[in-house]
Amino acid sequence: MNKLLIIEDDPGLQKQLKWALADDFKVHIASNRLEAVKKLKAHAPGVVTLDLGLPPDASGVTEGFETLKAIREMAPNAKIIMLTSNDDKENALRAIELGAYDYCQKPFDEDALKLIIQRAINLYELEEENRSLSRKNRVSLLDGVIATSTEMMDICNMVERVAPTDVTTLVLGESGTGKELIARALHHLSDRADEPFVAINCAAIPENLLESELFGYEKGAFTGASKQTIGKIEHANQGTLFLDEIGDLPQPLQAKLLRFLQERTVERLGGRKEIPVDIRVICATHQDLSRKMADGTFREDLYYRISEVVIDIPPLRQRPGDAVVIARVFLDRYAKKMKREVKGFTPEGLAAIESYAWPGNIRELENKIKRAVILEDGDMVSAKTLELEVGSAMAGFESVNLRQAKETLEKQLLSKVLTQFGGNISQAAEALGVSRPTLYTMMKKYGFDTG
Ligand SMILES: Nc1ncnc2c1ncn2[C@@H]1O[C@H](COP(=O)(O)OP(=O)(O)OP(=O)(O)O)[C@@H](O)[C@H]1O
Ligand SMILES: [Mg+2]
Repeated sequence: MNKLLIIEDDPGLQKQLKWALADDFKVHIASNRLEAVKKLKAHAPGVVTLDLGLPPDASGVTEGFETLKAIREMAPNAKIIMLTSNDDKENALRAIELGAYDYCQKPFDEDALKLIIQRAINLYELEEENRSLSRKNRVSLLDGVIATSTEMMDICNMVERVAPTDVTTLVLGESGTGKELIARALHHLSDRADEPFVAINCAAIPENLLESELFGYEKGAFTGASKQTIGKIEHANQGTLFLDEIGDLPQPLQAKLLRFLQERTVERLGGRKEIPVDIRVICATHQDLSRKMADGTFREDLYYRISEVVIDIPPLRQRPGDAVVIARVFLDRYAKKMKREVKGFTPEGLAAIESYAWPGNIRELENKIKRAVILEDGDMVSAKTLELEVGSAMAGFESVNLRQAKETLEKQLLSKVLTQFGGNISQAAEALGVSRPTLYTMMKKYGFDTG
């Protein structure tokens, strides 16, 4: 039922109004400005009726106008209907100038008032629908990047600004946040878009092969070098080189890459020529490079070269609204692809998607949706099929307060991670994303053996 707030100080009129309107609307009542503000916040009604004569100025209009102003500021979309005395058309019109929707003169005709309220509600709903549609349409700024949160809109704006320049860009973010997607967007929006985009994963190639992969080699440079082969850097000439997982680049190659970034020439293994190469370099990593610099495993001078601009992609759990919007697009995509009849999510399914922490970010979301599209029997994907049932994660938590719940979870997680890494504190700390001292403190607190 549609919500209506009645602001009226006369108890008799309050009763009469409530009696007349309660059948058709969910009625809330406030007797003064303060109460009105509270109820407005608590119930967010679409329509408000406002008595112009409110205490402490019940026979005048100042408090009524102040209240009107307050509502307009708090709830600019709400429709306000003024209730005025019958000889006060002037103030009624002034109220409309100040943003009230309509007015009704006392003593009022119930049917006429109902009609005015109903019209106001219809208009309010129509406007709400338009607002939510235009919110939904804001789904994509960059090709392939689905987003609605201001956090990601900022990232997209940054990509648009940085793309046409040649600056060396470092893309940071947890695993699955879309680092490669953003790197490709940078390439596609640049003047190099028609030239190659060459990606190389520094973590996936064994150290002894990585150098020749990057720089190429001449025939006979080493055993098995049967013909001249050009490396990825040269392949990317005129285009973009994407160095993924740069945090895993072995130290000797860090020095060589630094030299390339300074000189912009490559020398193939076993070769003698310096070959000039014109490329834009984008690097990415999920690792904490400042920590790697602190422990001496990543060169600081290289870091400054590759991070002329840093794009730090927030994890999915820090992008309000994005998970649901992306989930909908994935659901449509996979339903079509796999010819399944699923049409959407159940309300619980949507709530679970929004509240889950998504440690594996968009990649995890994609996998869960794909799986659910295959497994769902009904036409709506449920939290159960997504394996995101609130009940299962929160079992036993109903009767504890937030602090107790937090401590229980911390303890469980600690125990799990310590077991997983065989008690190795450094690895456990890294997995939990906390410092070693913090982990120590937590272990002491929960009675784990700190050795
Ligand atoms: N905003 C987004 N909208 C739609 N799809 C996305 C979005 N972000 C990421 N994806 C998709 O999620 C998957 C993971 O993204 P990507 O490979 O770019 O992540 P990553 O940060 O490079 O992950 P990793 O660190 O594991 O390499 C890809 O299939 C990508 O297309
Ligand atoms: Mg990646």
